Amino acid sequence: MLTTHVYMSRFSRSFDVAELDVMCRHFARRNSETGITGVLMVIGDHFVQVLEGARDPVLDLVERILVDDRHGEFRTLYRGLVHERRFPNWSMRMMNLDQHYTVNDLAMTELRRLVKTVIISPVPSRTAMVQLMMAIPRVIALDGNAEAVVRSAAVIDAVPTAP
Ligand SMILES: Cc1cc2nc3c(=O)[nH]c(=O)nc-3n(C[C@H](O)[C@H](O)[C@H](O)COP(=O)(O)O)c2cc1C
Repeated sequence: MLTTHVYMSRFSRSFDVAELDVMCRHFARRNSETGITGVLMVIGDHFVQVLEGARDPVLDLVERILVDDRHGEFRTLYRGLVHERRFPNWSMRMMNLDQHYTVNDLAMTELRRLVKTVIISPVPSRTAMVQLMMAIPRVIALDGNAEAVVRSAAVIDAVPTAP
């Protein structure tokens, strides 16, 4: 069984897109060493990150992220066991939900709506979390024609993961 941990947090300072991209590539490299996969979504001044992997590496990483001063107001949204990874090809996929996507507007609009719902609710329902988790791979799968910046990050960060 694998552990999945989803949390949200708030920027403790401003980040520009390039900086977030560099950070996420660095995270992806580190995660490829520990077998962690997932996505890091950015919306407004919030992060929403999905981490998945073996229990100990995920818990260790959560402990480190928790004390990282680049963000605050850390709140766990979901923690559970899963049989298989939702993001097997992504050692950390950056998704900037504020970015203008030229295609897949419906899937992206739905994902944004779900993320915003989860962010504002004090205790998101399990149903809301499941819907969110299902909406993310849908956008990634449709993302072939997304803007170049997303595509290039995707190619570089697609680190093969251990079975
Ligand atoms: C929003 C956010 C997401 C992060 N995601 C990861 C991640 O996926 N993998 C990772 O290794 N570090 C991630 N970090 C960085 C960790 O908090 C920490 O700085 C890093 O693991 C290095 O820890 P160390 O210097 O104690 O080894 C993230 C930090 C922030 C602010």
